[in-house]
Amino acid sequence: MRCLVVDDEPRLRRVLVRLLEGEGFRCTEAGSGVEALAQLEREAVPLVISDLRMPEMDGVQLLREVATRWPETAVIVVTAVAEVESAVACLQMGALDYVAKPFHLDEVRARVTQALDKRRLILENRNYQHHLEARVEAQARRIEELFLEGVHALVHALEAKDGYTRGHSMRVANYSAGMTAALALDADLADTIALGAELHDVGKIGVSEAVLHKAGKLTGDEYRHIMEHTVIGARILGPLMRDAPGALTIVRSHHERLDGTGSPDGLKGDAIPFEARLVSVADAFDAMTSVRPYRPSLTVAHAMQELETGKGVQFDPAVVDGFRRAFPEATALPIPTPQLQPLRLPLRAMEARRA
Ligand SMILES: [Fe+2]
Repeated sequence: MRCLVVDDEPRLRRVLVRLLEGEGFRCTEAGSGVEALAQLEREAVPLVISDLRMPEMDGVQLLREVATRWPETAVIVVTAVAEVESAVACLQMGALDYVAKPFHLDEVRARVTQALDKRRLILENRNYQHHLEARVEAQARRIEELFLEGVHALVHALEAKDGYTRGHSMRVANYSAGMTAALALDADLADTIALGAELHDVGKIGVSEAVLHKAGKLTGDEYRHIMEHTVIGARILGPLMRDAPGALTIVRSHHERLDGTGSPDGLKGDAIPFEARLVSVADAFDAMTSVRPYRPSLTVAHAMQELETGKGVQFDPAVVDGFRRAFPEATALPIPTPQLQPLRLPLRAMEARRA
């Protein structure tokens, strides 16, 4: 192992070098702090033994430099008995030990061994921490991936069952992404909305296919049965999405209406979570411009007009304006929408809540 001995007295340096070489160290010497730094710049060493009082740059200054630039180097300071206070200050600055002059060789040997043991432990600990952090991060990424794979599997299951929904979830997510950009919403809220928009109709998995595919007008009971998809969706996803409550509220509340006549909770105005008010506009627009079992699709202009008419009654006016701002040129289908980013869990919000 290499060691750098720093002392302005050549005689003392020799004594230490001889001792350390006897212990198997390969030593280099420096007569001042400046010289020591120059040597460290050429080649870092695991151990520095340095006198405190030296011309040009003293041991304290040297220690400060070493501690910041070579944090893996162990430093032992050599002090006169009268300098014990400075020695203690050095310990606070990161020196691993000190030896008081006049010293006994056995004492130096013991201090060096101890300091190197300490250094090894510190490095091992740092290494362990580093690996642990990397592993935790990899696990968190894997959990997120698994979750999102689960989400996609659910959406595919729904689309396999309900032809009308095919592409609907994705289009609603696309329109919602356009609106989050037009309204300059923050990244976390955008992640929440993207996730909730893609999942909003998942509860239709629990709705009878006969009702879902009925070509004629729905009876009151049938309509109520279909509208249960919000509650069913929230129930299916609830345990999976404890960490993404915003997305879950979209699933539950995307059929609420501003005037309080929506379902399932009859929420009114601002009591409807903003995320849900936003997705509800995207959802309604896509529903109107899609062919349904019981009617042909509306034109873009007609659907836009319906959104305007629904302002303050069914829809949040600011959100409808956001939709217009997002797609000002829209006249015919398909409406060009922003490229969807890969789904992400709104992790920043989750971490903030945990903190
Ligand atoms: Fe829905």
